[in-house]
Amino acid sequence: MKLLSQLVALALCLVTTLGEARTFEEIKKDGKIIVASEGGFPPFNFFQGPKLTGFEIELAEALAKKMGVQIEWRALAFDALLAGLRQDRWDMVIASFGVTPVRAKAVSFTNPHYCSGGVIVAKNPAIRKADDLADKVVAVQTGTTYLENVQKLAKVKEVKNFPKDTDARAALVSGRVDAWVTDKFVAKAALEAAPSAGLTIGDFVFVEHIAPAVKKGNTSLVEAINKALQEVMADGTYEALSKKYFNEDIRCR
Ligand code: ARG
Repeated sequence: MKLLSQLVALALCLVTTLGEARTFEEIKKDGKIIVASEGGFPPFNFFQGPKLTGFEIELAEALAKKMGVQIEWRALAFDALLAGLRQDRWDMVIASFGVTPVRAKAVSFTNPHYCSGGVIVAKNPAIRKADDLADKVVAVQTGTTYLENVQKLAKVKEVKNFPKDTDARAALVSGRVDAWVTDKFVAKAALEAAPSAGLTIGDFVFVEHIAPAVKKGNTSLVEAINKALQEVMADGTYEALSKKYFNEDIRCR
């Protein structure tokens, strides 16, 4: 069922990619770029009270500055973000999307803004490796690469889906599941935020390149974002932001 609905969604994507996305020149003339994120994936994108913030939000602001435009932010459910690109509802998405062949058919990715991967988080310190998930119930966010990769592990007892990654985490904390698979840096931040929850971080299940996305085929915007990325990575802006959030530089190497 899941796979079928994913295929239908992809087919719809392909046939409806007919409208024209705004080129970088048009965006520049307008002076503002519309960028969508989620706001539920700390420390990458989250809400501090009413304010959308995080590593990706601040990074996008730095990119926009280099591009000479202002950002108008939109915050939406994770699974609505890529679909909105094809409907021209926003120009760019930055929400920790891993570059996958399926997604790359529906949208265009820029160069990656960081490299990471899905790790196993559990309360039981004996659950560390992919093999340890045999006969276990695992929580993941719907529509993510975590779901996709955990489903590939043959012996998992059940994969429980949550629209929000923070709810997948909560399911682990309250003991409703045996493990949670999420981003390594999200896991680290969760452990630091709640040391008494008794969570431990295990191995990577997979690694991935994470990148901003634009409407499929919007080459001028891809090029403008890549140029800005290169500039912030060269002038220390990226490094400072990355160290602020992670105490290390998380760019792909
Ligand atoms: N990296 C994973 C993926 O590409 C998870 C992204 C989750 N992002 C979020 N804003 N909740 O599917």
